[in-house]
Amino acid sequence: MGFLDKLFGKSNKHKEETVVKKEKLKIAIVQGSVREGRNGEEVAKWVYNFAIKRNDDVAYEVVDLAKYDLPMLGEELTEANQVGSETVIKAWSEKMASFDGYIFITPEYNHAIGGALKNALDYLKPEVANKAASFVGYGSLGGARAHENLRLILGELQVADVRTALTFSLMADFENMSEFKPADYHKDNANLMLDQLISWTGAFKSLR
Ligand SMILES: Cc1cc2nc3c(=O)[nH]c(=O)nc-3n(C[C@H](O)[C@H](O)[C@H](O)COP(=O)(O)O)c2cc1C
Repeated sequence: MGFLDKLFGKSNKHKEETVVKKEKLKIAIVQGSVREGRNGEEVAKWVYNFAIKRNDDVAYEVVDLAKYDLPMLGEELTEANQVGSETVIKAWSEKMASFDGYIFITPEYNHAIGGALKNALDYLKPEVANKAASFVGYGSLGGARAHENLRLILGELQVADVRTALTFSLMADFENMSEFKPADYHKDNANLMLDQLISWTGAFKSLR
């Protein structure tokens, strides 16, 4: 209470208090491989476990593309699968729209991302626009070419990708190219990637 208020007995106890509650950022870890026996599952789990241990003010969630049996975009739907497919498309769009940012986990297939992830992204536009993303790739060159491919696609969707990405080598970070055992040095990069992603994810919120 100020000096004059004290002197004249004015009280502010009835003044309405405005409590500004900061909402947690929501970041999806999108597991972009649907292949049976895929390596992507372990990579997504590793990223999730790494991220939650940082205790950021962020709600992380793994979104597994394999759980969304999306038809090919533009595919003619039969009477038998129409309702089911439309439900899945709606669920996918709403799920992706519910996040502020994304970590895309992607393998490299023929120097690009997999067809399933490309098809799934083709369903989206306003759901992801003005949001931030980062990439985690794996392949013989750490999925680096898939990253560059994804960067072009997300540019068209008005998604901003941060510079730092994780590149896991099939030869060095997987035993027998199938058991995920990432080298320790990736942790520094993972922290940098998450720092960049979180700050952009927060900043882009004010644009929407
Ligand atoms: C159709 C196909 C194409 C591939 N092309 C590449 C490639 O161009 N570069 C690469 O580094 N790895 C390539 N690979 C190897 C995959 O990156 C590797 O098998 C990876 O584990 C696939 O991810 P997933 O197990 O999560 O499906 C290819 C694999 C498949 C199945």
